[in-house]
Amino acid sequence: MTDKVLILDTTLRDGEQAAGAAMTIDEKYEVAQQLDRLGVDIIEAGFPMSSPGDFAAVKKIADEIRRPIIAALSHANNKAVDRTWEAIKGAAHPRIHIFLSSSDIHIAHQLKKNREEVLAMAVDNVARAKSYCDDVEFSPMDATRTDPEYLFGMLEACINAGATTLNIPDTVGYADPREFARLLVDIQEKVPNIDKANISVHCHNDLGMAVANSLAAVKVGARQVEGCINGIGERAGNAALEEVIMALHTRKDYYQVDLNIDPTQIYRSSRLVSDITGFAIQPNKAVTGGNAFRHASGIHQDGLLKDRTTYEIMDPQMVGWPSSELVLGKLSGRHGLKSRLNELGYEPSDAELNRLFEEFKVLADKKREVTDRDLEALMKDQRRSFDETFTLDQIQVTCGDQGIPTATITVTGPDGTSKTDAATGTGPVDAVYQAINRVINVDNELTEFSVKSVTEGIDAVGEVVIRIVSEEAEYVGRGADTDIIVASAKAYMNALNRLLSIGVVN
Ligand code: KIV
Ligand code: ZN
Repeated sequence: MTDKVLILDTTLRDGEQAAGAAMTIDEKYEVAQQLDRLGVDIIEAGFPMSSPGDFAAVKKIADEIRRPIIAALSHANNKAVDRTWEAIKGAAHPRIHIFLSSSDIHIAHQLKKNREEVLAMAVDNVARAKSYCDDVEFSPMDATRTDPEYLFGMLEACINAGATTLNIPDTVGYADPREFARLLVDIQEKVPNIDKANISVHCHNDLGMAVANSLAAVKVGARQVEGCINGIGERAGNAALEEVIMALHTRKDYYQVDLNIDPTQIYRSSRLVSDITGFAIQPNKAVTGGNAFRHASGIHQDGLLKDRTTYEIMDPQMVGWPSSELVLGKLSGRHGLKSRLNELGYEPSDAELNRLFEEFKVLADKKREVTDRDLEALMKDQRRSFDETFTLDQIQVTCGDQGIPTATITVTGPDGTSKTDAATGTGPVDAVYQAINRVINVDNELTEFSVKSVTEGIDAVGEVVIRIVSEEAEYVGRGADTDIIVASAKAYMNALNRLLSIGVVN
């Protein structure tokens, strides 16, 4: 008999707290749909009290995604609990997740209270959450630096007040796996009513041990693991869920637990979160990195040809790596495009398919062969065009080693009127950005610019990723085109539209 370990994904809450990972409501919804396909048990959809935009995103996910539990984070105060409930009450399976610091460092310096006052706040707000909703999670923040006796008492009191999940956060990524496992064992031995709650862990990666700590906790009885796709999150991030999942899956002989996850959705989940946040996946990253299943040395290749299991402990297809590269061309029809997109895991609506098909034809005219990676780039462009306040209609640039780089652009605004303007710059990209700035007058600073080719060859699609900063918030922008100046313009428009969209709702 094996036990079930529940997976709580907090990409949309803790993940989005990462500097520069802000997502629009539509992007959060798209990630939530993918997490649903992945089969996570609980989606932590956000922190409704933190901003009106977060409230709206949580509400939309709670109202529309029906299978998983939809959790929302709340401060331990009555007003926050009430507002959190407002956001998730439409969910088929709602959960209120209350957190409150428990370590003396936080109690003294951040909360400026004493232990008794903090304990009372925890109990009062867990009970308030319980009055709305059966499913209540409580997290003593900074648990791993908390006096264990105080922690045990707080956990016991919160279970008595109605908490059904007790989450043990290693908030600052301080724990060591053996020490963390010991804490989990002590909790199970010293909290008398612990059998009435599920034990969860939430590990940060400051010392690179988030996944190891999560797994050590499962080994000694934790039955919920929290983390984020690609390990994004505050500072060095959270436990990378795809790594936790594949460790539990691949080493079932050791952990003896089951999951409700469909691992074949891992690749797509990872790529989607990377595309939306603009955080690239390092090539050597476990499970989803570009080199994760590439064998370079002769001896490894030789072994692999004789028997894959010599050097491969996971089948790449098991985590959803595309199995073949199929090439489409300008004679391919709408049906061929749709079925290839479906095989790659995309399900565009009819309207999206119409737009994609137009773009596909333009690309197929420029390039002889359209590969899977080109299609993925088109899908990313499609996603970017949602919710655009301004659209780029036309761009023309002159540059060279003799003249002054000059760009002319035409942009359509929210009221449907087009505006054309021109500017010069230090180079063609700068000229384009200056021209766009003359039309869309939003104060910002470009802090990052990178360009890479999506496919090989002289006719490759180039992808530009940029970051801009405005009023201390960071926004990512992406654009792809066979012309990298056009891709740069699209990336800038994408970042500005994201800024305007997130700025308006927040
Ligand atoms: O890291 C942490 O302690 C948290 C809590 C809010 C669960 O994210
Ligand atoms: Zn956290």
